Formats: sequence, C-alpha cells, structure tokens
Amino acid sequence: MIMITGGSGQLSSLVAQKAAVAGLPFVTGSSTVSDGAPDRRRIDFDDPATLDFSGVSTLFLVSAGYAEDDVVMARHENAIAAAEAQGVKHLIYTSLSATGDHLAFALAHRWTERRLKQSGLSWTVLRNGLYAELIGTLAAPVDGVIRAPFGSALISPVAREDLAEAAITVLTAPEQHADTVYELAGKGSWSIADLAGRVGIPYAPAALETTRQSLSSMPLLPFQPPMLMSIYAAAAAGFLESRSTDLGKLLQTAPRDTLALAAAAIRSGT
Ligand SMILES: NC(=O)c1ccc[n+]([C@@H]2O[C@H](COP(=O)([O-])OP(=O)(O)OC[C@H]3O[C@@H](n4cnc5c(N)ncnc54)[C@H](OP(=O)(O)O)[C@@H]3O)[C@@H](O)[C@H]2O)c1
Repeated sequence: MIMITGGSGQLSSLVAQKAAVAGLPFVTGSSTVSDGAPDRRRIDFDDPATLDFSGVSTLFLVSAGYAEDDVVMARHENAIAAAEAQGVKHLIYTSLSATGDHLAFALAHRWTERRLKQSGLSWTVLRNGLYAELIGTLAAPVDGVIRAPFGSALISPVAREDLAEAAITVLTAPEQHADTVYELAGKGSWSIADLAGRVGIPYAPAALETTRQSLSSMPLLPFQPPMLMSIYAAAAAGFLESRSTDLGKLLQTAPRDTLALAAAAIRSGT
C-alpha cells in the first residue's frame, strides 16, 4: 500500500486524486486531521508518535518546507527514520530541481536527499521545479505594474499538475524508478517580461533592496523574506532556467503551458 503524506496540501491532493483515478491502493497522511479514518491517518512529521506507517510499502513523502531549515530537516529525519524502522520498502521524496540550488530552501532538500540515500530504503527523488502557479503569484502586479525583481533572464517553471502526473508514473511501479533522481523543471522557458506581455500589463522590476524593504513591512515569518528574495535573485541571475528536464520521461502527455498557468494565476489574483 502507498501512503501520500501532506494530504491537505495542493500537490498531495492532486497526487491523491490521480492515484484514485489510476486505481492505486493508497492512504493519505496529514498533520491536520485528528481522527483515525482508515484512508486518512494523522501523520505529523513534528510528532514522531503519529508516524504510523504500518502496512505501507511505498511512502510518498511530500516535503514539509514552510519553516526554518532545522525544523524542516528534523521533520524529514523523523519521517525517514520511522519509515526505516517500520519496514517501508520504497520512499519517494519531492525535492527541488537543480535549477533551485541557489534558493534559500535548497539546503533542507539536499540534506534530505543525502539522508535518504544513506538510509536502508529504496528511494526515488523527484526534484520538482518551481511551480508556474507560484511564479504567477509572486509576479502579482501592484497598481497595474509587475514590480517583482525577477530580472530579464529566462526561467523554467513547471505545472504542479504535471508534477502530480509524474509522481503517478513512479507510484505505479516504484521498483522501476529505484535509486533514481529525476530533474523536473519545466520544459519551456520564458521571462517575466513574456509573462507581463501575455497578461497585457507593464513590467518594471524594482531593485532587490526596494523589494526587501517592502517585504519587511509585511506580516511574514522570519524565514520567509530570505526565501522569497532568493527566488528573485536566482531568477534574475539566470539560475532558474533549465536546459534539460526529465519531465518527458515521466509524463504520458505533453507538459502543460506554464506561461498560461502563470498568467491565469495573475489574472485570478491568487
Ligand atoms: N516547487 C515549488 O514551487 C514549491 C512551492 C512551494 C512549496 N514547495 C514545497 O513542496 C511542498 C508541496 O507543495 P504544495 O504546493 O502542495 O504546498 P502546500 O499546498 O502549501 O502544502 C504544504 C504541505 O506541507 C505539509 N506539512 C506542513 N506541516 C507538516 C507536518 N508537520 N508534517 C507533515 N506535513 C506537513 C502539508 O501537509 P499537512 O498539513 O496535510 O500535513 C502540505 O502537504 C511544500 O510543502 C513545500 O515544501 C514547492
């Protein structure tokens, strides 16, 4: 049986929906449920006592990344250690693409990959690129102008739903993807100027310092401004462009139009 962790999350929800359609045997785990429904267990990486992986042969471990590095690494350590102790055979981890190596949250992902490779488990690492939907959200216009400091370089975001479909390919036959890292940045590349053009609004990127000052006046958690700033800086420096991706190896259909998805995120104000 498969367990999909992070059940309340957007990626996990898509993976669970598609697993149901594919007829895969699975349960979900979520830190947000308190009951013990047979198909939905309480799984909170912060609380090792909840990590019941009984009957689970394949664990789909969705990163729980919205916290400081020490917290994220401890969460993932708890989950991997419990999987080792309880006889899970194969662990699939949703990591971060190589294009994201310069992002502030790359460290916890790379730590988790190393921990997983040193475990006694069979594993697959899905190195997910940044979501196109996220880029659209971060490029939200202010007074009708996109001011987010993405610079002018190309970026290669990916559709969250394509990542969920890629995950289903691995979940359908995990043994065929054992001890494999898949780089899953998007196939197409575009700039934020392209995005602005698609939506029909101007793009006038602010300086990084101006954006950092704006963020400092927002109700954000301490780890969030550096995380966001690293996305802008890495994009502007050209590090978020991918020249090759393994997406086509895992997708059964053509990748979704990421520029359209990012534009839709802007139009919907999400
Ligand atoms: N590639 C990208 O562009 C990108 C962007 C944002 C985030 N991410 C990473 O990818 C993950 C999935 O993305 P998403 O779009 O589905 O994010 P999301 O909708 O914000 O979901 C957050 C996820 O974190 C899980 N989580 C939080 N605290 C947890 C805990 N104590 N124990 C276990 N799980 C916990 C949540 O699961 P429950 O609350 O159900 O337990 C949920 O699955 C995120 O968690 C983050 O690490 C990637």
